[in-house]
Amino acid sequence: MATNITWHANLTHEERAQLRKQKGVTVWLTGLSASGKSTIACALEQSILARGLNAYRLDGDNVRFGLNKDLGFSEADRNENIRRISEVAKLFNDSCCVTLTSFISPYKQDRELARQLHEKDNLPFVEVYVDVPVSVAETRDPKGLYKKAREGIIKEFTGISAPYEAPENAEIHLKNYEGATIEESASKIIEYLIEHKYIE
Ligand code: PPS
Repeated sequence: MATNITWHANLTHEERAQLRKQKGVTVWLTGLSASGKSTIACALEQSILARGLNAYRLDGDNVRFGLNKDLGFSEADRNENIRRISEVAKLFNDSCCVTLTSFISPYKQDRELARQLHEKDNLPFVEVYVDVPVSVAETRDPKGLYKKAREGIIKEFTGISAPYEAPENAEIHLKNYEGATIEESASKIIEYLIEHKYIE
């Protein structure tokens, strides 16, 4: 625990947004492994960048190669994973970036913490539930992880041997199965961001 530290303030977010001519927003995608979170976030990142706006994607697997390489998949480690990501997302958001996070983030209390950290500083936070039943995710299984989880090779696997607490009040609920396309899902999020004046 650090002591004798002082917060240094410079511009407010509003002042920065005015100079940067872009607001910040965090789009928090949550859902099972193989639900399509990362693919949707990639499509969104490209679409927003193509509009001449700044966007950046923080992704579950990727962040675990660096910042969170010391964390595994116990409940305590997932709590810490999401706490750190929430703080990082907040910084990206404050820098006036459309910040796209794609983490399973299975616990409601962790997603609520992410929201509160943002809202405390008046930084917009949009939760997107990428809803796919376990049975569908398991059929996709692009990384073969569900198979390993069923065989007991991977322990504490979300949806099989670890919980996923589905959001009840996400700003956007995407049913990403039964013919839904990535383009449609990404478009719904873009429409929401335009409608709420987070992007133009
Ligand atoms: S969490 O729950 O939010 O902390 O997880 P996250 O940081 O998003 O990491 C999820 C990716 O890690 C891989 N993986 C696992 N997922 C769930 N449970 C277990 N036990 C596990 N072990 C490894 C998996 O590739 C996840 O990526 P996605 O993109 O979600 O499939």
